[in-house]
Amino acid sequence: MGCCIVGCGKGLPALDVTNDELATLVDTSDEWISTRTGIRSRRISIEESSLDLAETAARQALGWEGALPGFEQQSAFAPEDIDLVLFATLTPDALLPSSAALLRRRLGLVNAVSFDLNAACSGFVYSLTVAEALMAASQAHVAGASGRNHYHRALVVGAERLSRITNWQDRNTCVLFGDGAGAVVVEWRDDAPGIISSYIKNDDDTTNSLVCPASFDSSFVFDQNGVNEIAIQDPAALLADASLDRIDEELGVIEGVAAGEPRQSIRMDGQKVFKFAGNALTNAVLEVLNRAELTLDDIALIVPHQANERIIKYAAKKLGLSLDRFQISIEHRGNSSAACVPMTLSDAYDSGKISPGDKVIMVAFGAGLTSGAVLYEA
Ligand code: UT7
Repeated sequence: MGCCIVGCGKGLPALDVTNDELATLVDTSDEWISTRTGIRSRRISIEESSLDLAETAARQALGWEGALPGFEQQSAFAPEDIDLVLFATLTPDALLPSSAALLRRRLGLVNAVSFDLNAACSGFVYSLTVAEALMAASQAHVAGASGRNHYHRALVVGAERLSRITNWQDRNTCVLFGDGAGAVVVEWRDDAPGIISSYIKNDDDTTNSLVCPASFDSSFVFDQNGVNEIAIQDPAALLADASLDRIDEELGVIEGVAAGEPRQSIRMDGQKVFKFAGNALTNAVLEVLNRAELTLDDIALIVPHQANERIIKYAAKKLGLSLDRFQISIEHRGNSSAACVPMTLSDAYDSGKISPGDKVIMVAFGAGLTSGAVLYEA
């Protein structure tokens, strides 16, 4: 028995932006980007919100529009069948309500408990782990289950519009990111193992290697003495929110912000993140294998986070695997954070690379620092 993937889908924005187009924005080239990262183009949302992309992915995962190979036999779910929505994102369209609540409303998932989860690029793997844990804890045979909500089916989404928080003048980051969404439906089944093991882990990002401060636009009318009279007359005259300066200092961005960098944009020390990523990916794969008492020979496919093709090659070498054991979708997408893993999984189903009974590992790493993996039987 276990939490089984019973639907999968993805949603992409219409606009495709090539490396050559980015070379008109910053000092870069198609040659540099493609050889250093494996990326040739990425999708950028113009009119599509994160929620729009998530809705497209979710409709496919629910079997409402164009079920993927492997899931055609599965009849479409009714809206009331879903009792949990987990939405992994670091780029929600709104702070309130949550993206999960908005998606619930759009899709009419009237019975679903819904909330967002931010674990950066590992967000989907974290969300799937949480969904499985909630479902497992609510099964009738588990002690205390009768005192909890019961979860039988969950929609788990990763959706991002990283283009909104990318500094398009910074060649160290802007060539890497793209927008998109992916989703799965998971169902608790008594006759299949589904998710066999999972692993999530945090390390401190002691050097601020991957950060993005928030941005608060509303007028602030207080200072240490209470309401500031001048600010009431003219909010524009005020008011540096002192706490933001302190956070900028803590995140190591104060000088850049003072020099005019867009405050709410991703800053990354690429080499530090690269080193962390290669080891985190390898370690997470080995951990889920160990927890499941399986070996790499048992695994049909690894579906990794798509940050840089070289990171995947590094992990493949360390694990002693050929690259064809990994699903790689970075070429025309780039890195779309929490959306990467479910979109890449959907590519694997779409191209018939996952058959019933196959064991698959999804694995991710990202800001936080976060990392994790889920091993399941299809
Ligand atoms: O989702 C999780 C988070 N992200 C990641 O996992 C990303 C991890 N890091 C990486 O993928 C890589 O470190 C990058 C792709 C970001 C950078 O590749 P790299 O091979 O580590 O390059 P580098 O930072 O060592 O830079 C090499 C050179 C530098 O020039 P100099 O100092 O050697 O003259 C950079 O200024 O390449 C230069 N450079 C560029 N040149 C052309 C950096 N970005 C660009 C660019 N175009 N876009």
